[in-house]
Amino acid sequence: MKTRIAVLVSGGGTNLQALIDARLQAGEIALVVSSRPDVYALERARKAGIPAIVIPRKGSTQQAFEAALCAALEAYRIDLIVLAGFLTILSESFTKKYPRRILNIHPSLIPAFCGEGYYGLKVHEAALARGVKLTGATVHFVNEIPDGGEIILQKAVEVREGDTPEILQRRVMEQAEWQLLPQAVELVSRAIMEESR
Ligand code: GAR
Repeated sequence: MKTRIAVLVSGGGTNLQALIDARLQAGEIALVVSSRPDVYALERARKAGIPAIVIPRKGSTQQAFEAALCAALEAYRIDLIVLAGFLTILSESFTKKYPRRILNIHPSLIPAFCGEGYYGLKVHEAALARGVKLTGATVHFVNEIPDGGEIILQKAVEVREGDTPEILQRRVMEQAEWQLLPQAVELVSRAIMEESR
């Protein structure tokens, strides 16, 4: 049986698209969950024929949000959770329920430019402000420390003269994130599939 994957999103969903396009072998995307309505990631799921639901983070307590998320994950019999541009930090009580079963993609070479407050363009703004010549992306397991779980894959990307945060973000996505995330998801999906045999 293929590993059943839920992809959690909050925005445009280009990493979700990379997972859809990768045609995973050991895993299947069984559910997309968005923490926000009206994001393009939901349209991508719809076009690919994947069940997609919105569990709004805004106006909800962390506890109520996570309870609704757990219920959905159970209803869809999810084995592996992938955070792909998901902007909510999950509590320790949530992450403890899924040890080594939650992956996240972060747009820097962890431990640089990571942790609370570092997300999306802010990560690239910080890298440019510090003047690093190399940045990149990291896929890691999620534990109770934001961006602190075990690293699975990393890829470096060069910073070029004249880069803006937007230009650098695009290069990191194209040269690292969209390759790394499907690779890591395939690796972990295969391990889970073999474990359950
Ligand atoms: C991606 O660059 C992802 O690495 C980043 O948000 C973007 C989402 O884009 N995630 C974080 O910063 C998490 N801390 P997408 O919606 O197009 O996949």
